[in-house]
Amino acid sequence: MDQAERLRKLVEKRPETVQSPVRGNARVIAVTSGKGGVGKTNLTVNLAIALGMKGRRVLVIDADLGMANVEVVLGSSTKKHLLNLLEDGTKLADVLVHGPYGVDYISGGSGIEKAQAFDGAQKGQLLVKLMEAGELADIILVDTGAGLGKNVMDFILAADQVLLITTPEPTALTDAYAVMKAYSMYAPEPDLSLIVNRVYDERESRDVVAKLTQTASRFLKLDVGCLGYVYEDTAVMRSVRRQMPFLILQPEAIASRCVRAMADSLLYGTTMAVRRGWRGFLQQIFHFSR
Ligand SMILES: Nc1ncnc2c1ncn2[C@@H]1O[C@H](COP(=O)(O)OP(=O)(O)OP(=O)(O)O)[C@@H](O)[C@H]1O
Ligand SMILES: [Mg+2]
Repeated sequence: MDQAERLRKLVEKRPETVQSPVRGNARVIAVTSGKGGVGKTNLTVNLAIALGMKGRRVLVIDADLGMANVEVVLGSSTKKHLLNLLEDGTKLADVLVHGPYGVDYISGGSGIEKAQAFDGAQKGQLLVKLMEAGELADIILVDTGAGLGKNVMDFILAADQVLLITTPEPTALTDAYAVMKAYSMYAPEPDLSLIVNRVYDERESRDVVAKLTQTASRFLKLDVGCLGYVYEDTAVMRSVRRQMPFLILQPEAIASRCVRAMADSLLYGTTMAVRRGWRGFLQQIFHFSR
């Protein structure tokens, strides 16, 4: 048996040791929130467009269970979802949609939560096919859905960086704190930044950030950054109704300017080193040994 054949046999027997031949390894950024409805999907999609305009290859993964939110915001639709990759004939290219405004996305569809219960062979198949995405993008933005469910936690713990969105509402702040607390307990290398959405003025945003970062530092020993803030802006609601991202519909709206500033801060304000990257993210999601 030559070495290649031995490796093949090993892989067939133990799919959890499958190594991808693909070299690319995009940076994975999970966009999450404690409370629902605070703007994750809108900010994810518009941030993807802003990063795309700055020359980055961005892939959005809609991991919000059951709700095809990313598609709605983009005004796009697909019948092929992530889990179709379990079918033998389906390739990554079949589920990866080249959506409008240069946004590539994969729709999670319903059932992504079942991923943990898949057997080794199924996980291996998903992993190998998904690995390729790490080479097609520089940045992978994962819209996780809200709250502290097991899936959301898995996604944020596996990501290189977490963007935690909150509004200034007290209920949103309490729920954001709960996410920071859970994250601080389990994240091996914490990297979490706040985005304050729907603020009326800059001072309001500064107060929110100060409150959350000080509490996190004092009680959780967690160093929390701030990526930026987005003003309350009717352009957002209008764009949702028109199913066209606000960055496209009203590029000069204040929300659009805030998102472009956040893209700058993401690219230039912090070091964008790839850490675990896409491969590490997948391996952790599927509990593969590294
Ligand atoms: N900056 C803003 N200004 C005005 N309205 C906003 C702003 N951000 C979000 N909204 C409103 O909040 C709604 C919900 O936004 P979005 O769907 O992006 O939230 P979400 O966090 O993804 O929600 P879910 O938890 O249900 O997935 C939008 O449809 C829009 O009407
Ligand atoms: Mg959403």
